[in-house]
Amino acid sequence: MANHTSTAEIIARVRLQLSDQSPRTLYGVTPQLEQLEKLMRRTVANLESNSALLIGPRGSGKSAAVNACIAAITADFGSDAFAVVRLNGLIHTDDRLALRDIASQLKVQRALETGNLSSFAAALAFILETLRNGSRQSQPLIVILDEFDQFAHHAKQTLLYNLFDLVQSAEAPMIVLGLSCRLDVIELLEKRVKSRFSHRQIHFLHNFGFDEYLSIARNSLLIAGAEHDAAISAWNAQVAEAMNDRSLVAALQVQFDLSKDPRVISTVLVCILNSALTASATGRLQASSVVSIIQAQFVDAKALVLQGLSTLELCLMIAINHVQVKVGVLEPFNFEMVYEEYKAFANSNVHVIDFFSKPVSLKAFEHLQAIELIKPVHPNAFHVPKEYRMMRMMVEPAQIVDAVTRFQDCSTAVRRWGSQWAE
Ligand SMILES: Nc1ncnc2c1ncn2[C@@H]1O[C@H](COP(=O)(O)OP(=O)(O)O)[C@@H](O)[C@H]1O
Ligand SMILES: [Mg+2]
Repeated sequence: MANHTSTAEIIARVRLQLSDQSPRTLYGVTPQLEQLEKLMRRTVANLESNSALLIGPRGSGKSAAVNACIAAITADFGSDAFAVVRLNGLIHTDDRLALRDIASQLKVQRALETGNLSSFAAALAFILETLRNGSRQSQPLIVILDEFDQFAHHAKQTLLYNLFDLVQSAEAPMIVLGLSCRLDVIELLEKRVKSRFSHRQIHFLHNFGFDEYLSIARNSLLIAGAEHDAAISAWNAQVAEAMNDRSLVAALQVQFDLSKDPRVISTVLVCILNSALTASATGRLQASSVVSIIQAQFVDAKALVLQGLSTLELCLMIAINHVQVKVGVLEPFNFEMVYEEYKAFANSNVHVIDFFSKPVSLKAFEHLQAIELIKPVHPNAFHVPKEYRMMRMMVEPAQIVDAVTRFQDCSTAVRRWGSQWAE
């Protein structure tokens, strides 16, 4: 018999899938995952000691990769085969705090309080000793140091020194994994710390294409178990339909070109789920609402400036576009060239547009420079008359065409002239 999951339940499940904690298919990181898993297996299965740094921008899958490897190892060896300690440089701002949390995560804090320990190294050794003498004989340890670079700012880098020293002396089986978005993170290490580090680095770089980006979005919305549930299969059908919508794909393409960070999609999708919940009880997923939320994610500042121009200034920007087609896009131009273009347009549309004289146009041209839509090639060439100073455009030709189509109170002739460029 078919079950029927409620809309609220479906949305709750998708929300859970969108959280960073839930496992998901990772794209473009297969070699990184293999290398990391092999290293971790060597610690858990062969009781070796290792260290490695995972380096890459935020949202590039470092934490997700570590979690995926821990899940794979747990599946093979069981969760009792090893212990995990997670520290974060933004939370554990000094080594005492870190040590206390290591003890509490390993459930030996009571022993630490009773032990009379003089130094940091002695305390860390004591924690490991307690682990070994307890029921868990030589249990391999996975130490994850998120925001690794922050630990390098601690006095004398005591924690890092002691951890890497333990790894190097191979007294206890453990792997120390540092996660950081700083490429130069190794340079932050003191000499004695650096010399104990394995210098193994694994890089993460958003190494996937647009198709995979779409799959990430699709995967986080689709719910498993549709075979036995009419409501879930209806939801999945909506997802498939929305993800095939051309305007949605186009909006995601813009987003992808700006940043490949998959966290942006999650943000967008969470917004959509929220509005799906409040707008109607049916929780319909509509491509058009997705598109407007994606577009609201970023504001094109230059486009806003373009929309605030006067008609004359807009005409000059259009003229610049036409000049650039003649002399070559990205080539510099000067006021004389732009004015000639504007005059030619005005002459062929005498009755439909207001034509402005050269001095007025020059003032408008200078205003375009003041608001940085155009910039002089040589900022200090004051000996050259204003009309002849070479300029460069600071916006894309397409942004001007776009501004023309949105511009209010723009005559048909100007509109036609402004969008001709696109043809
Ligand atoms: N290559 C990838 N493929 C699919 N999802 C990814 C990928 N990289 C990151 N993500 C997703 O982006 C989110 C942020 O990733 P995370 O591992 O927390 O980044 P980091 O730790 O590098 O800052 C997670 O939900 C993760 O699943
Ligand atoms: Mg992370």
